[in-house]
Amino acid sequence: MLRFLPQKNKYIVEESEFSFSKELPIPKHIAIIMDGNGRWAQNRRLPRVAGHKEGMETVKKITKHASKLGVKVLTLYAFSTENWKRPNEEVNFLMQLPVDFFDTFVPELKKENVRVEVMGYKEFLPKHTQEAVERAMEETKNNTGLILNFALNYGSRAEIITAIQSLYTQLQANQGNINEITEDTFADYLMTGFLPTDLRDPELVIRTSGEERISNFLLWQIAYSELFFTRAFWPDFDEQALENAIASYQNRDRRFGAVKNEEESV
Ligand code: IPE
Ligand code: IPE
Ligand code: MG
Repeated sequence: MLRFLPQKNKYIVEESEFSFSKELPIPKHIAIIMDGNGRWAQNRRLPRVAGHKEGMETVKKITKHASKLGVKVLTLYAFSTENWKRPNEEVNFLMQLPVDFFDTFVPELKKENVRVEVMGYKEFLPKHTQEAVERAMEETKNNTGLILNFALNYGSRAEIITAIQSLYTQLQANQGNINEITEDTFADYLMTGFLPTDLRDPELVIRTSGEERISNFLLWQIAYSELFFTRAFWPDFDEQALENAIASYQNRDRRFGAVKNEEESV
């Protein structure tokens, strides 16, 4: 399957080797590093923030499609703890986006039975952003369909340190023993700890824009995730692109360190 993607004033051809199948397993948890908004805008001689605005439309499209496909958790990296380094106007725009997004999209999310969650250091967000986030979470809290989980002011190294600090405080209070810390108890203290245990780790991580790095996203949780990189900028990512990523996942051989077929091994 061929897709033509506009990039740097020319079209690039992106080839998908695999076809998406409804019969094969769909990842329960998909996490996406939504990258390339700025470059999408710059290619059109628009300000970077125009890319963020357009990217918001992609979020709506992809949320609806993931929900339709039966994905249980969609984690979207919206703002990292490192993104504060950007110019003030861009940061201000990015902090206003959730307000606009939730104002226009929560009624539809309610209809789709989608529950909104936000993980990250929310206490450092501006008041209007915090309020929009709290409102969206409150209004959708009883929904039982897709969990739309935004990583907002999220950084995984900080997340790990915060988890260690909480665990240490807890252990001291209960006069507990260091051996009580296991992989499972540790995972309870991470920001994905609110999810049921079988949904915490994404099976599939997608990054758009051609960059092939993790940028401080879910470091613990992606230990065995399948990674998918596409050259599409986030505003150009669409339903077909999501299905291509899932198709790639469906054709991976996930071994988790074991051998595929024990009888074949000597
Ligand atoms: C992703 O797009 C959105 C955020 C990080 C908030 P970018 O803004 O990083 O776009 P590029 O990578 O500069 O093109
Ligand atoms: C990662 O993208 C963060 C988000 C998508 C929110 P960046 O654009 O900030 O990452 P780097 O700087 O290219 O690593
Ligand atoms: Mg970027």
